[in-house]
Amino acid sequence: VLSAWATRLGPPSSLEVVERPTPQPGKGEVLVRVGAASVNFPDVLMLAGQYQVRVEPPFAPGSEFAGEVVSVGPGVPHAIVGTSVLGAVLTGAFAEYVAVPAGAVTVVPDGLDHVAAAAFGVAHRTAFHALVTIGGARSGDVVVVLGAAGGVGLATVDVATALGMRVIAAASSPERLALTLERGAVHAIDYDQENLKERIKLLTEGRGADVVVDPVGGRHSEAALRALTWGGRHVSVGFASGEIPRIPLNLVLLKGAIVRGFELRTLHRHLPQSTDACERALAEMVASGLRPHVSRVYRLDEVATALEAVAQRRTVGKVVIRVQPASGGGHLATDVHPDR
Ligand SMILES: NC(=O)c1ccc[n+]([C@@H]2O[C@H](COP(=O)([O-])OP(=O)(O)OC[C@H]3O[C@@H](n4cnc5c(N)ncnc54)[C@H](OP(=O)(O)O)[C@@H]3O)[C@@H](O)[C@H]2O)c1
Repeated sequence: VLSAWATRLGPPSSLEVVERPTPQPGKGEVLVRVGAASVNFPDVLMLAGQYQVRVEPPFAPGSEFAGEVVSVGPGVPHAIVGTSVLGAVLTGAFAEYVAVPAGAVTVVPDGLDHVAAAAFGVAHRTAFHALVTIGGARSGDVVVVLGAAGGVGLATVDVATALGMRVIAAASSPERLALTLERGAVHAIDYDQENLKERIKLLTEGRGADVVVDPVGGRHSEAALRALTWGGRHVSVGFASGEIPRIPLNLVLLKGAIVRGFELRTLHRHLPQSTDACERALAEMVASGLRPHVSRVYRLDEVATALEAVAQRRTVGKVVIRVQPASGGGHLATDVHPDR
């Protein structure tokens, strides 16, 4: 079967698409025929050997997918075969088939095809947890989203808007800002051209924001934190700028601020009860018509180009690799919850 294949750590251009043996589902695993896989910033980091978890080559990259379960390993109920699922793994999703633990997949919500489903899980779950589980944001709160036109950023604009929060989006160009306004942001700030802290203060009539969701890091983090209201929360989600900022603690003291972070990969382990709340809320949003913004769909043989585009800050929303021309969205066993 066809699979992207990294034989050394390096830039996306070092990737090849090769024929590999079909993976076999081991104990507790399901084999998924991948319909689509989405590109996440960590895929680029992992290929470069710069991700928190280092995987030694050779390996198949790709960490998020949607597709159909075609077989199961020992210990997994056969009833799940034929179900459309979405899931996240460390590696292996940029391929025609991926074998993953049954607990790593969930049933695709009604109304999402495989392309949309592949773009949905990581970004929107990250957005929900950043806003609600970690950030404690509520309807009516002012939420500042940095990198608001990116994968996690735009999902955060979507989820915050759906939950009745007022979004101030920050991004780097007029086109990117326009997209965030289309998706529901109330205000947009070009943080490469404008003074982020001053603009947030102005837009909130001096009060400041309740929550900052920060997948970018770098110099914008401190500026955004300085624009929090007293008792506000700064949620660190990632460092797409490549720079991990250092925050002067006196700011935290003066503002009674809370600085928190989390990793989607490990959150369930620490806050198991947060998973159900998140899944329920997101399912409701999908039922009400929420769809991820997929800006570009590539073929599997274009995977290096897709990764390059994300690495070079050229994409908005989500970028997806369509692996199979699957019909998607089939729901043969919607009552099966393999992750429960
Ligand atoms: N904590 C978690 O569980 C979790 C989960 C998912 C993702 N993440 C992290 O969140 C971050 C964003 O992921 P993503 O998938 O949303 O990425 P993405 O789609 O590439 O978006 C990142 C955004 O960051 C901004 N940015 C600023 N400086 C940049 C630079 N030098 N290079 C690239 N982008 C830059 C860009 O917006 P502008 O050009 O408008 O500034 C871009 O839209 C990553 O660091 C990722 O590892 C964390």
